[in-house]
Amino acid sequence: MKIRKAVIPVAGKGTRFLPASKEIPKEMIPIINKPMIHYAVMEAIEAGIEEILFITSEGKGSIEHYFKRNNKLEKFLKERGKDDLFEQIKTIGSSIEIQTIRQDEQLGLGHAISYAEEFTTGETFCVILGDDLILAETPVCAQLMSISNQYNNNAVIGVMEVANQDTDKYGIVDGIFLEGKKTLKMKKMVEKPSPDKAPTNLATPGRYILTNKIFDCLREIPRGVGGEYQLTDAINLLAERQDVYAHIFIGDRFDTGSIKGYLNATVEFALRNSETRDMMEEIIKDKVERYKL
Ligand code: G1P
Repeated sequence: MKIRKAVIPVAGKGTRFLPASKEIPKEMIPIINKPMIHYAVMEAIEAGIEEILFITSEGKGSIEHYFKRNNKLEKFLKERGKDDLFEQIKTIGSSIEIQTIRQDEQLGLGHAISYAEEFTTGETFCVILGDDLILAETPVCAQLMSISNQYNNNAVIGVMEVANQDTDKYGIVDGIFLEGKKTLKMKKMVEKPSPDKAPTNLATPGRYILTNKIFDCLREIPRGVGGEYQLTDAINLLAERQDVYAHIFIGDRFDTGSIKGYLNATVEFALRNSETRDMMEEIIKDKVERYKL
């Protein structure tokens, strides 16, 4: 069964990026010349997703606009013979169908995802958290989709190994490894456990394939860690009702929701791009020398 729909929650306040996020959605803060949300949407498109739902909040209008056509700008670029830029801008505005829904109150990730019920129309769908940017040859969503296909179209949680002291930043998965040692049948998931309480060091950086049964689970869970409705708790309930898998994906992940992760991604992206590689190399060498790093 083909997974055609992706849900991207973008309602968060982005306090770590204040004061910039006072007036610009944090998702629109760029890494080099593309807003962070651009990378999440491209991951979905490259994985074959056909429709996206943004779960938004007040003041996030520019995210929607970014993915719409801008005739005035396109005309301007065309007239000046800037054909490459013209194509790029046109493609951003026309590559995928995007819907939005407003989450009036931010009561947690689980609460946000519950807004996607109508959009998903009973289909299995993918969730991408835009704060977690993952560079991968095969988009992580696509890696998880193929595991879902392999295991009866069930839910699959994307996981990566993290240092033991970092388990309290993530949803942590426990399960039994299946053949190949990259996929697990999930037993349970714990939201942000302290290192001494974490069952494993397999953490989810915000990539999920979920079946539609998740919406019943979301309706039934009480508030969890931090007084929020946690997607993790709903996934636990789902695992009691149908098989849920976890898969260690291949890719380099950047936590662009934090300043350190953002800086890391900026340097890495510049080094990986042929247009900016030399510039960044020169800058780094200069800084190392000047500040005796
Ligand atoms: C959310 C999830 C958590 C997951 C994380 C990935 O937490 O609740 O399970 O590991 O995203 O970024 P948040 O970072 O929104 O607090």
